Amino acid sequence: MTKVRLDKWLSGAGLGTRNEMKKALRAARVRVNGEIVKDPGLHVVAGTDVVEFDGEPVSYQEFVYYMMYKPQGVLSATEDGRDPVVVDLLDDHDAAFDVFPVGRLDKDAEGLLLLTNDGKLAHQLLSPKKHVPKRYYVEVDGELTEADVDAIAKGVTLDDGYLCRPGSLLILQRGAVSTAHITIHEGKFHQVKRMIQAVGKQVTFLKRIEMGPLSLDPDLEPGEYRPLTESEIETLLALRG
Ligand code: URA
Repeated sequence: MTKVRLDKWLSGAGLGTRNEMKKALRAARVRVNGEIVKDPGLHVVAGTDVVEFDGEPVSYQEFVYYMMYKPQGVLSATEDGRDPVVVDLLDDHDAAFDVFPVGRLDKDAEGLLLLTNDGKLAHQLLSPKKHVPKRYYVEVDGELTEADVDAIAKGVTLDDGYLCRPGSLLILQRGAVSTAHITIHEGKFHQVKRMIQAVGKQVTFLKRIEMGPLSLDPDLEPGEYRPLTESEIETLLALRG
């Protein structure tokens, strides 16, 4: 039985912030089981109580999941004093769900970022024990070689002495500038950049294209996002265990 505060229920349905909902309650715009209710702290039960806002039924949606194409220059955070953050890219309705990014992409990196308010799922996706694969497209200053492929497959040692788990490097183009797909199963700070540094080269462009079962939707432009489909949510929830 899910019991939720009335103001949270209403803002969770995307009707506005909790403060706006408190005002709406004072203005007698909300009924529970047909009765006007003004107490934002009243607990309502999903599946049992009927909540109406301006006469329209409001169902309870606890968790939301969005796939975003994070653009460069934006932080994977919910707030920051100076820089723009990914939740600024959400419209007010979607932001009302108090979502946060699952893991981080560097400010200068772009690509797939999952945003949700499902803390349990986020924890599972980020848990070092789950080894959820993340795949990146990289552009590298310098020539990637078969020796680099082998080194990454064995597990390179980062500048701080950390021994990475085996990853996989698929060279797409080699030359003075090389391109590749790299898949890793952990998420240390600047990990891909530091793995490439460990083989003596430098990442100049980094884009995440997959995370676990999710692939970046080719229809999304940088800065755009969309809700996950039902089947994407199902495959993710299977990871939640
Ligand atoms: N590895 C990095 O170096 N940066 C990221 O943003 C993600 C993985």
